[in-house]
Amino acid sequence: MRKKILVTSALPYANGPLHFGHIAGAYLPGDTYSRFQRLQGNDVKYFCGSDEYGVAITMSADIAGRTPQEHVDIYHEVNKKFFETLNFSFDHYSRTTTSHHKEPSQQYFLDLLENGYIEKKETEQLYSEEEKKFLADRYVVGICPKCQYDNARGDECQKCGMAYDATDLIEPRSKIKGTPLTLKKTTHWFLMLDKFKDKLLTWLETKNWKPNVVKFVEHYIEDLRPRAITRDSKWGIPVPLDDAEGKVLYVWFDAPIGYISSSMEWAEKQGKPDLWKEYWCDPDTKLVQFIGKDNIPFHAVIFPAMTMGQNQDYKIVDELPANEFYNLEGKKFSKSEGWYVDLEDFFTKYTPDQIRYTIASNAPETSDSEFCWKAFQMHCNAELLGKYGNFANRTLVFAKKNCSSAVPKTHTLTTIDEEFLAGIKNLADKAANHYETFSIRKASQTIMELAQLGNVYFDTKKPWVSAKEGDTQSLETAIACCIECLKTLAIISSPIIPTAAQKLWELLGYTTPLAEQNWNSAISTTAPPKQQLPQPSILFNRIEDEQIDAELSNLVSS
Ligand code: MF3
Ligand code: ZN
Repeated sequence: MRKKILVTSALPYANGPLHFGHIAGAYLPGDTYSRFQRLQGNDVKYFCGSDEYGVAITMSADIAGRTPQEHVDIYHEVNKKFFETLNFSFDHYSRTTTSHHKEPSQQYFLDLLENGYIEKKETEQLYSEEEKKFLADRYVVGICPKCQYDNARGDECQKCGMAYDATDLIEPRSKIKGTPLTLKKTTHWFLMLDKFKDKLLTWLETKNWKPNVVKFVEHYIEDLRPRAITRDSKWGIPVPLDDAEGKVLYVWFDAPIGYISSSMEWAEKQGKPDLWKEYWCDPDTKLVQFIGKDNIPFHAVIFPAMTMGQNQDYKIVDELPANEFYNLEGKKFSKSEGWYVDLEDFFTKYTPDQIRYTIASNAPETSDSEFCWKAFQMHCNAELLGKYGNFANRTLVFAKKNCSSAVPKTHTLTTIDEEFLAGIKNLADKAANHYETFSIRKASQTIMELAQLGNVYFDTKKPWVSAKEGDTQSLETAIACCIECLKTLAIISSPIIPTAAQKLWELLGYTTPLAEQNWNSAISTTAPPKQQLPQPSILFNRIEDEQIDAELSNLVSS
């Protein structure tokens, strides 16, 4: 049955360029899953967008000497283009500063207020007389109350590790101006998360998530307290109340609503402004949210609680694949330290498929993992080119010469042929299962197993010997079976390497887009005999040692 599946990837902050480290966690897994589910014939909608409010933005805009709006305008475009370059298949990529996002965010707040889940409280916060504003934790430094370190951050001491509130700092001062801060009364609105405790626990029981995610969430729910969801700032969505001058919604309150508002904007662009409701408001929709592990509390507890308090019945997350971190040669990606890969430069030399495959085959699914140039070369040369490309090329070159560039007929099958065909089917099922259970690492392995199965079959059947001996039937059967294998290879690899898979599909003589096929029927429908095969061409390029040496020395010297 055709199922509605809503897929989201965490909205990245528009405060700097994304890199491969980000891609490995919430993005590539989301894109491959969406592509897979579309091939399964499901009704998939994949949404994302830029997260553009909050201190992460104002801070980085301040440092860059831009207004927050100028700053997010730049990085929204940069990151959107990055996703396009990497061949992402979002149905829509929005941003939280659009007009579509304001109304639903304010409505979320108003519903929670109306239903008794928000309370207003007076608190004391650090105020800068000089800057005439309250300062968020990240803008504050001072003396650590525990170890007396005199340049301790506003949220935790980087010397002794103590976590505290900025108001606990001794002699707090403005990080930017260096001037002393005073405590001043201010009013904020708090989400009474504790009121959702039982509901959350019951809901969580129905979830079959990774054990570490469930453990983490259970622990988190134990100690649920009211949490401030407003801030004193000019940058954000205004709190929709008369007595809330100068207050905006906390970025983590509005950002997840961005998944919904991105869908609303998409629906409007389709000319059917209510279409988003058919997904978000249908209990039969499956909502799958891809995130990095640092975003678990917001997606597994806070946003679900916010949604439970709405008048409108929105979907709450069904699957929450949370991935670990992806580093670069053993260290965190860091542009300021020169420890990064320049993407513009990267894409002049390598292809999106090469990086997609490399990340997928080593995705940080159960523990942190990393990008290594040598491993990248190995994946590209030994696997993509050596196994996948080689099998395609030898089959198609042989067919051109010996089968008049057309799909040959299958004759009587031997046991070897039958076992080969069964093996193909079996690996296709395995790959489907890996995609379904969010393991693109295992899916990549299965793709290479299938390519290798094809190579071994080709070597065993020795069609070149049949050609010499004039055994046309054996030769044709072998090539027809190899083409079945290649067709299946194109299908099962297309979520990860969509460009090469489409090219292979065309080299097999198909003229319709591979992405529009149905996984099962395309696998079970034999390529029609006599289908014309175009001129064979190369799917992947070799990466030379010198190239990799240059990349490595570039990394170290910069
Ligand atoms: N911008 C956040 C981050 O990069 C993620 C926001 S996810 C959302 O960590 F749910 F809030 F959208
Ligand atoms: Zn300290």
